[in-house]
Amino acid sequence: MILQNDLFELAKNEGTPLFVIDHDEVRRNYACFKEFLPRVQAYYAIKANPDPMIVKTLFEMGASFDVSSIAEFNLVNDLLKDWPEDKRKEWLWENIIYANPIKYHETLAELDQYKPLMTFDNLDEIHKIKEFAPNAGLVLRLRVSNAGAMVELSSKFGADPKEAIDLIMEADRLGLTVEGLSFHVGSQTTNFENYVQAIDLAALVFRQAKERGYDKMTLLDIGGGFPAPYDESVNPFSELAKRINAELERLLPPDVQILAEPGRFIAATACTSVAKIVGKAVRHGKLCYYINDGVYHTFSGIIFDHCQYHLESFKNEGPTQICTVFGPTCDGLDVISMTEELPSNLERDDLLFSRNIGAYSAATSTYFNGFNPAKIVHVNR
Ligand SMILES: Cc1ncc(COP(=O)(O)O)c(C=O)c1O
Repeated sequence: MILQNDLFELAKNEGTPLFVIDHDEVRRNYACFKEFLPRVQAYYAIKANPDPMIVKTLFEMGASFDVSSIAEFNLVNDLLKDWPEDKRKEWLWENIIYANPIKYHETLAELDQYKPLMTFDNLDEIHKIKEFAPNAGLVLRLRVSNAGAMVELSSKFGADPKEAIDLIMEADRLGLTVEGLSFHVGSQTTNFENYVQAIDLAALVFRQAKERGYDKMTLLDIGGGFPAPYDESVNPFSELAKRINAELERLLPPDVQILAEPGRFIAATACTSVAKIVGKAVRHGKLCYYINDGVYHTFSGIIFDHCQYHLESFKNEGPTQICTVFGPTCDGLDVISMTEELPSNLERDDLLFSRNIGAYSAATSTYFNGFNPAKIVHVNR
């Protein structure tokens, strides 16, 4: 974790708003994931934070990648641009999953040469893949419970488990290969039971497919959802991993390859934002600070990720009070917090920082109202 003093010095030297990426923390999170889930190959979900340097750090650590657009695919492909063509294609084939169940047909046509793994969850998509990427390896995404997740995904994606076998058999009939199953239990899932139930369901579908004579499935992708330790209410990752490992061992023979698509777990704690106070007012008796970063920028996760971030001050003398903190734009939606306990005596140009803000934050930052996204600085590269 980057020390407060170092953060302060960086902000003084680089200016604000600042978004600091600590690559040691990226490495630590990836290593922790691998240590506790040794059977699982981690495909970093680039959407969580697509910074090219994060992708590079993880590539150097031996990670694979979950991409969901051609631009994300190219972020990885670009790292291999100097490799011989056949080696590059082989690496992409082995280390990429295109995990967006609904794909542009132009994207499929472009990806077909790499024969990548890709998820699907409906009949129309099977026909699209057959037409534009017949060499892809298919992974059927199942709809599973997202109960208790901070971000729910099951209303948008996932085949009804009752339809799973028919979809697998239809893909097979068309000459496509369904290589396995996937699911996503919802992002920031603190309800660990979701994983247990989803693995049980996947094992059932594996058995049913075998009973119907389909035995080409060799992998299970347990998706993302692994929670970042935003506060003490989140149980340790080691506990979740223990439950996942036990269920995998109980239900899936060792020759079934296990994949996962962690995004938030890798990126969240690796980044810290620093902003400065640009204005101060008392409204309806409440102290309000206005800072030069907000929900249209680094704090966009408040809207898109349903995430609440905490702000801390570098100055901690004197009384505190519950304040409102606003972003810099003219929109009334640009509220970072209405209940932040901060020193009462902060002034223009004083700095506030927010930890654990690496996932779904800079990724969704805009240029709204003429304010640029925060400057990105890398430490421990
Ligand atoms: C298909 C897929 N995989 C992985 C992820 C990453 O999830 P998380 O950041 O919760 O690990 C997402 C997030 O939306 C997703 O849609």
